[in-house]
Amino acid sequence: MSERPYVTLSCAMSIDGYLDSAEPHRLAMSNAADLDRVDDVRALHDAIMVGASTVRRDNPRLLVRDAARRARRRAAGRQESPAKVTVTASGDLSADAAFFTTGEGPRIVYCPRERAAELSARLGHRAVVVGIGDECVTMDALLDDLGAHHGIRSLMVEGGGTVLTQFLGADLVDELHLVVAPFFVGETAAPRVVGPAAYPWTASRRAHLADTRQIGDVVLLRYALSDRFGMLDPDPEPTGAGRIAVERP
Ligand SMILES: NC(=O)c1ccc[n+]([C@@H]2O[C@H](COP(=O)([O-])OP(=O)(O)OC[C@H]3O[C@@H](n4cnc5c(N)ncnc54)[C@H](OP(=O)(O)O)[C@@H]3O)[C@@H](O)[C@H]2O)c1
Repeated sequence: MSERPYVTLSCAMSIDGYLDSAEPHRLAMSNAADLDRVDDVRALHDAIMVGASTVRRDNPRLLVRDAARRARRRAAGRQESPAKVTVTASGDLSADAAFFTTGEGPRIVYCPRERAAELSARLGHRAVVVGIGDECVTMDALLDDLGAHHGIRSLMVEGGGTVLTQFLGADLVDELHLVVAPFFVGETAAPRVVGPAAYPWTASRRAHLADTRQIGDVVLLRYALSDRFGMLDPDPEPTGAGRIAVERP
């Protein structure tokens, strides 16, 4: 089996740990300079993933925006933007969502096996539908399939909280990019950055904070969560991957 893809989790939260408000329209957490940084990180990866709720609520395109970054990818023999990945248990995804109608790279939808035929028929040529598991898809099975059958060596997971929780709770993350926006949301019904889980990073096993950066009015916290950390950096250390020794649980 091929090596499991390198996983970067990237999200922006309010000071009180929310990913969004509960209002009908998406709350912008980040600023333009940080969105440009996110675009740069996207351009490094083979695939980008969001959960089905984010596809429904935000209708994201998930493309590399900057023309120079797209040109660099093309020159390196890659698609202009990473492949897009999502996961659904209900199969409630519209074929007209920007996820399916923008960009030229592959779009891969994971769902429980029993949903796959119907969803595949509905999405047609717009996506490859992969059925895994009985009621839900485990993130380790999803990663194994991306690596083994779709040639994906790196995955950037952009949310939402349900998906972030599963990757972090299963200790499948190599690095975490957490942006803190300078305001509070304070709504019980708003989505939290993560939910309850048995996280491998606890008070007695603290995550390694590798970098912090102020970007205008937000701050980026970059955590190294595995000893593969830094593998995608444009100028990795001469020794290659693993600049930081991260102890496994
Ligand atoms: N601030 C940020 O950086 C950021 C980034 C992304 C998203 N967001 C926000 O986050 C919110 C959405 O977050 P969320 O936690 O509600 O949803 P989410 O993580 O985007 O998606 C959850 C959905 O994904 C599917 N899913 C998740 N795990 C699954 C599994 N193991 N097997 C099968 N399907 C699975 C299910 O879809 P079905 O319901 O179809 O079964 C589930 O309802 C939105 O408000 C969005 O704007 C914020």
